[in-house]
Amino acid sequence: MAAVPTTADEIRSAYLKFFKARRHKVVPSSSLVPENDPTFLLANAGMNQFKPYFLGTVPFPHEVPYATSCQKCFRTGDLERVGYTARHHTFFEMLGNFSFGGYFKEDAIRWAWEFVSDVLKIEKNRLWVSVYRDDDEAIAIWQKAALLPSERIVRLGEEDNFWTMGPTGPCGPCSEIYVDLTPEAGPVKDFATAAEKGRLLEIWNLVFTQFDRQADGSLKPLPKPNIDTGMGLERVASVMQKVPSNYETDLIKPLMDEVARMFHVDPNDFVSNQYTSRKVISDHLRATTFLIADGVLPSNEGRGYVLRRILRRAIRHGRRLRYSNPFMSVLVPVVVQKMACIYPVLAERQSHIVNVVLAEEERFLKTLDDCEERLSQMIDDMQRAGIQNFPADKAFELYDTYGYPLDLTQDELKERGLPLVDVRAFEAAMEAQRDRARSAWSGSGEKSLPNLYQELNARLAPTVFTGYDSMAEKSKFLKIIRVVDGHHEEVPSIAEGDYAFLILDRTPFYAEKGGQVGDKGTISTETGVADVLDTQVLSEKLIGHWCLVTQGTLASTQDAEAKVRESERRAIIRNHTATHLLHAAMRQVLGTHVHQAGSYVGPDRLRFDFTHFEAVRPEQLREMETIANRKVLENIALHKEEMSFLDAKKKGALAFFSEKYGERVRVVDVPGFSMELCGGIHVNRTGDIGLIKIVAENSVAAGVRRLEAVTGEGALARFREEEASLQGLAQTLKIPEKSLGTRLDGLLDELKDKDREISVLKTKLAGNMSGDLLSKKQDVKVAALVVSRADELDSEGLRQLTDQLKDKLGSGVVVLGSAKDGKVAFIVGVTKDLTGRIKAGDLIKKVAQVAGGGGGGRPDMAQAGGKDASKVDEALSKAASFMGELLK
Ligand code: SER
Repeated sequence: MAAVPTTADEIRSAYLKFFKARRHKVVPSSSLVPENDPTFLLANAGMNQFKPYFLGTVPFPHEVPYATSCQKCFRTGDLERVGYTARHHTFFEMLGNFSFGGYFKEDAIRWAWEFVSDVLKIEKNRLWVSVYRDDDEAIAIWQKAALLPSERIVRLGEEDNFWTMGPTGPCGPCSEIYVDLTPEAGPVKDFATAAEKGRLLEIWNLVFTQFDRQADGSLKPLPKPNIDTGMGLERVASVMQKVPSNYETDLIKPLMDEVARMFHVDPNDFVSNQYTSRKVISDHLRATTFLIADGVLPSNEGRGYVLRRILRRAIRHGRRLRYSNPFMSVLVPVVVQKMACIYPVLAERQSHIVNVVLAEEERFLKTLDDCEERLSQMIDDMQRAGIQNFPADKAFELYDTYGYPLDLTQDELKERGLPLVDVRAFEAAMEAQRDRARSAWSGSGEKSLPNLYQELNARLAPTVFTGYDSMAEKSKFLKIIRVVDGHHEEVPSIAEGDYAFLILDRTPFYAEKGGQVGDKGTISTETGVADVLDTQVLSEKLIGHWCLVTQGTLASTQDAEAKVRESERRAIIRNHTATHLLHAAMRQVLGTHVHQAGSYVGPDRLRFDFTHFEAVRPEQLREMETIANRKVLENIALHKEEMSFLDAKKKGALAFFSEKYGERVRVVDVPGFSMELCGGIHVNRTGDIGLIKIVAENSVAAGVRRLEAVTGEGALARFREEEASLQGLAQTLKIPEKSLGTRLDGLLDELKDKDREISVLKTKLAGNMSGDLLSKKQDVKVAALVVSRADELDSEGLRQLTDQLKDKLGSGVVVLGSAKDGKVAFIVGVTKDLTGRIKAGDLIKKVAQVAGGGGGGRPDMAQAGGKDASKVDEALSKAASFMGELLK
């Protein structure tokens, strides 16, 4: 008899083996980042990667349409509860078996029952099941397959027993298996109470996937009924290991213990806040490690934001445990060690993961430090002013400007015994901020686009865009909207000097989108000309030409001629295609984890941000440039085509989540080299680009780099500039350009020699001066003092002179001052025997203060600056009396 699987690794492999023996194809987990579906953020169930097979759009590519997997999953819905319960997680693993139009309820239930009772050997009297409301068929199968008494089969409603992957997509009624965790406590009296109290634990969800939920909420039957089951590995492990919490299973406990060790807290404390914090940190650490391994980087939107939030939440909990150094990055290897045997990518990317986490931690810890100081100051000020309640808008300011979370502000107030911030007022401030952000619009310099355009959108036919093939168009006005002082108004005509948004029925002007800037040009009628300064999307259907009328008048009844400025448009599209070429070259050189994260494609240059953790080395940049330019020289004809999103993905086109894609997408293909979804305008053949030259590569945020390049005429201009600057240099030096290098080396050597000479001379000068100065020494309370002004010396010279004077005096104090080119410097030297009586730092403070400066140093030597060069003499003249005051 096979041993009962107990460790998580044993359970995982027993499950896959069980279904493999029943003709299921074992499919590896997909990435947490959905590869084929821009409609959701992160993989949240085992069935995600199989969506097309459920929908029937693609056949399952194996003879038997059954699959089984252990899927990495991520759920963000309950983030705030993670850590406070025994079962909530962000990251978890889900075991599942799937049928795509093959077996249905009967086999699904029978096999589930067999696995639970024969493989896991959970006693039958501990098991309960739930079914959807009126699913009598499922009840009958359960009774037959499991011989379960009817009181242990409960009917539940839509909320519990109808599974949907998201607002749209495959879904269906389900049936769930529950385990009684404490059978020794006597019979379960009421299912609902026992489930709510956690005595009955749901371990397996069998979904009978029959529908595809549409955007309008309706349920469209799928061509064939399917099966999608999901069993949370952490939960089953807790049952098999007889521990009361997922956090005590062998999947997470090693982490919990390591956190306890690191933070010096009790590993056997299962009740206090410390336990909560350990759970938060352990969960988020797993999540962080897996997310970064799958290519996510911290940022302020999308998945990157999820990562940033959980990382910061974990860091805050570290703070609660009074730990102020980076710790998440230190703990990453513990996760890797535990999980890499199943997910080898973790080991491959460990150092990258550690780097990303460390950079984010350091930044956030610094913010926390700064904010703590700021907050403390605010509270002190408030208390001095007799204010008791910390204002919500101040707490919001800390949050909004510096990212300092409200709960830390609350913690500080709590510690000081002050009333907490009014959370409702804080949320109101946050909501107001969101509204402001929503209405901000940067297109024409106006603050926001008024509702007017939404109304027009509903009333008018869409603007037809003809710019892919042409740069000029005969059009009619749909509307003229004059804009005066931020006020947008529909008018019949506009005249010279007016600013307006012109809306046409057809336009060749490209409206800014996907990084490509809006076109510029002119719109003219028989009676007037308007300069198009920018082109923007005004609403879903309407394109707006932001214009200044430069001649005559334009009336909405007239025919119009829209002309894009050709030279600029050509420069823009050269840069756009070059962006695609560089992007593909970059993925060849740096790896496919690199992808574009925002871009600017203008006439002057192209710039794009991409995800990569370290600086790109110069030789890598050169290689990318070479690859991209080789493609330019091959003069490849581009292929641009509209197709369905799914077809585009099938062809292997790259799509980025940050962009929203509709059903129909445009694919821009440089055959054999680059294929991207892109609505922008491109050259016809790569040769049109002329030349691509990378001009800069630098960092914009942790894990995000920025590349800039020029093409075509921009590249030519760049060469000319560089040529001109070299020629200029050569002319100045009166030598041929090719001798510049040798000449420069020669000049640098000469400079070095001169520096040496100068330093020798300075020492000599100081020696000569010290002789003169010594004769002017005075006595202050039987200690010698030499005071002098020495404008001819820089700070190094002053130091040398002070040393020499100290040597010659044997015992005494030296005070020197200088003002050179408005720069004031003082120096005080005290011989060792006197430092017990007077400190150089104390004396210099007083002296420098006279000239508005300050400084300090060692007891025997201190230096200071000053602001007021006219006060140097006065300061020096007071040195003797200051010395008298200070001398003990
Ligand atoms: N999709 C279902 C769930 O996530 C079963 O796999 O619960």
